[in-house]
Amino acid sequence: MARVYLPFDFLVAFPILLVGLAAAGVEPDHGPIPTCEPVPGSDAELIHVAMNLEFLEAEFFLHGAFGEGLDSIAPYLAKGGPPPIGGQKAELDPLVRNIIAEFAYEEVGHVRAIYERVGGIPRPLLNISKETFGDVFDVALGHKLVPRFDPYASSLHYLLASYLLPYVGLTGYVGTIPYLRNYTTKDLVGRLLGVESGQDAVIRTLLYERALEKVEPYGVTVAELTNKLSWVRNDLGKCGLKDKGVIVPKELGPEGKLETQVLSSGKDELAYSRTPQEIFRIVYASGNEGVPGGFYPQGGNGRIARSFLHYP
Ligand SMILES: *[C@@H]1O[C@H](CO)[C@@H](O)[C@H](O)[C@H]1NC(C)=O
Ligand SMILES: *[C@@H]1O[C@H](CO)[C@@H](O)[C@H](O)[C@H]1NC(C)=O
Repeated sequence: MARVYLPFDFLVAFPILLVGLAAAGVEPDHGPIPTCEPVPGSDAELIHVAMNLEFLEAEFFLHGAFGEGLDSIAPYLAKGGPPPIGGQKAELDPLVRNIIAEFAYEEVGHVRAIYERVGGIPRPLLNISKETFGDVFDVALGHKLVPRFDPYASSLHYLLASYLLPYVGLTGYVGTIPYLRNYTTKDLVGRLLGVESGQDAVIRTLLYERALEKVEPYGVTVAELTNKLSWVRNDLGKCGLKDKGVIVPKELGPEGKLETQVLSSGKDELAYSRTPQEIFRIVYASGNEGVPGGFYPQGGNGRIARSFLHYP
């Protein structure tokens, strides 16, 4: 197996930097020191953070598989939110198309489950254009790709783009569960998490099968690209290593024994967890939960997402 290296400098440098800055009473240029702490909220408010992601996944998978979104299936679930920007039917082979079609309907179900059990939020404005994904891939590879990365161009491109989505939801749900109070909401989130992590596992397995394949014309392997995309998320989230590609240095593999990382897991092989602010830093692609952008040009909805926007 080819080895894929993660940049370790950040991992080492990050805590030192924080301590250094705190000691000196200096704030970095982009604003206050990012927090990694849980955010207080009612069960419904905590679940609404994730609902933003469920809308994103629903629209991306529905468009990818069918060329149309939630408004063609269950417009009431959008609660008056605007239609997404830039979704397209993807060029998918029959296997991947079937899988993505299933995921798409699963996401419709997830949005409906949240809507019915805790009350919904209006669908946020979503930008799922190829440019949004293209920008993320540019950042991952550290230069402007020519031609631009197009998530809708092939099954492999679409799977690489999909690699970005359910995993964020998964880590968000893991981070939510300890703070839920009601039995019914824990039941709901456990069930959402189960399916979300299944989706992530399928995407990662399909990518692992092609790990050593070059993503043309960029000359980078699938495995390298997954590590670079994971790295973008770690970097944007600003709370350390919570994300790994499908082949990693052995030290980061399961029990330090293998380079295989079909499932992304941490200490004791448990799932990583992320707080709402980490989630928004990542999906806004801004590294700042107060600065919308990326997939959410106007930010997420729900009390917690909106409260961050008051303190950019
Ligand atoms: C728990 O559920 C009850 C009944 O559905 C509801 O009134 C209450 O607001 C919920 N608590 C939280 C923390 O969401
Ligand atoms: C969608 O995002 C892309 C990439 O950031 C941007 O170029 C484009 O203007 C956005 N579209 C809209 C309508 O905001």
